[in-house]
Amino acid sequence: MSMSEPKIAVIGTGYVGAITSTCFAWLGGVEVWGLDTDPGRAGQLAMGQVPFYEPGLPEFLAETIATGRLTFTVSPHEALTDADVVFLCVGTPSGADGNPDLSQVESAARTLAPFLRDGTVVVNKSTVPVGSGNWVRTLLEDSLPRADRPAFQVVSNPEFLREGTAIDDFLFPDRVVLGGDESGLRRVAELYRPILEQAFEGGRPERLPELITTGLTSAEMTKYAANAFLAMKISFANEIAGLCELVGADAREVLPAIGADRRVGRPFLSPGLGWGGSCFGKDVSALVATGLEYGYTSGLLSATVEVNLAQRAAVIRRLQRELRVLKGRRIAVLGLAFKPGTDDLRDAPALDIIRRLLAAGAGVAAYDPVVKTLPPDLSAVRLAADVAEAADQADAVLLATEWPEFQDVDPSAVAAAMKGDLVLDGRNVLDPHAWASAGLRVVGVGW
Ligand code: UGA
Repeated sequence: MSMSEPKIAVIGTGYVGAITSTCFAWLGGVEVWGLDTDPGRAGQLAMGQVPFYEPGLPEFLAETIATGRLTFTVSPHEALTDADVVFLCVGTPSGADGNPDLSQVESAARTLAPFLRDGTVVVNKSTVPVGSGNWVRTLLEDSLPRADRPAFQVVSNPEFLREGTAIDDFLFPDRVVLGGDESGLRRVAELYRPILEQAFEGGRPERLPELITTGLTSAEMTKYAANAFLAMKISFANEIAGLCELVGADAREVLPAIGADRRVGRPFLSPGLGWGGSCFGKDVSALVATGLEYGYTSGLLSATVEVNLAQRAAVIRRLQRELRVLKGRRIAVLGLAFKPGTDDLRDAPALDIIRRLLAAGAGVAAYDPVVKTLPPDLSAVRLAADVAEAADQADAVLLATEWPEFQDVDPSAVAAAMKGDLVLDGRNVLDPHAWASAGLRVVGVGW
């Protein structure tokens, strides 16, 4: 590394890139450059504006920019010249065939190649299919003249942060996973030292994250397998919840009792409308696809996806059972984002369910504390300014996303606004007694 502070470049300032660059710069001891091809995005971030919704990030970004250690640019020359460590944080959206589209990774690698020097470490944080580290290495090598090709390293550093709690997830992880060759790993581990030792203001030295070093391919596999396990855990909870409904057991009692076993653990056992977002669906499908390339059938992973989709269909059946006819009914949907704390609508269960309701001839009104626009194909949905407005004249209310504020809603105000009395709590977060006292009939998932 150079004698001065190490220079970190982060290519791609979307969700992961913005968090990564801001957190490393905030921790100090490094100079960080965020590089994006989109001048609008780079310009916004440079002014301390966050182009997506993430609680706490705007303040954190502004504070960090003020230290002078963090700069955003569209100039590869500025960001990449003399960079010691380069993080690839570009997007890998699902392509038309279901496989991740790696064109952004490819163009990032081509941009980076001319700036590589002996000892540069290229760290992949984008979620790329297993084996992509080798592919990036080859891409970089092939972009350079064979004669005096610098000795650079490729390291995989999968990202486990969740939307809505990304800064905390970055600063207080359970583990940091680094895959690659020994010397490259050491250099990246050094950058993570403040986090690994929790040696920063507000650090929690009583809970030190684990540093896990692996081979390149194992680190890539870990990312997919970790998400697949969490998705499977939720699908398991949902499948058990379905059985509970049939036999008359209560999933709200059963699942926590399973989770109390330390071998299982309580988190990610909440039944409901299932998982959404940009990660679980994409990653589980990619893992299934990887298996198929080897003729390997991942039955458990395929079932994980099927169970998740079945939850969305089950809500419609439940509404049909309760309301008999959906055509001409007014349904109020509370919550649109795929989970609370984000404005992200990617693969949001609420949207899928709304599409099914519209197809069945129901009218839909919706309210979300943060989401204020819907995709064009949902223009028939009436977006309300609050819960009562959404519930106006409704035959049924469906709670689709468990925004905390929904627990504080006054049930009698909802009851007064509604025409019918059915409340389907798709996330099991409402107090059924309080809502029943207002004359409403609450049904949930798994009971
Ligand atoms: C997920 C992982 O949790 C992160 O560790 C990972 O880094 C990230 O994907 C990624 O690959 O980038 P995220 O998609 O932001 O993070 O959201 P989660 O908080 O994991 O929630 C996913 C979905 O599961 C949400 O729709 C949520 O409502 C649902 N969920 C979660 C349940 O239905 N039940 C539960 O018990 C927990």
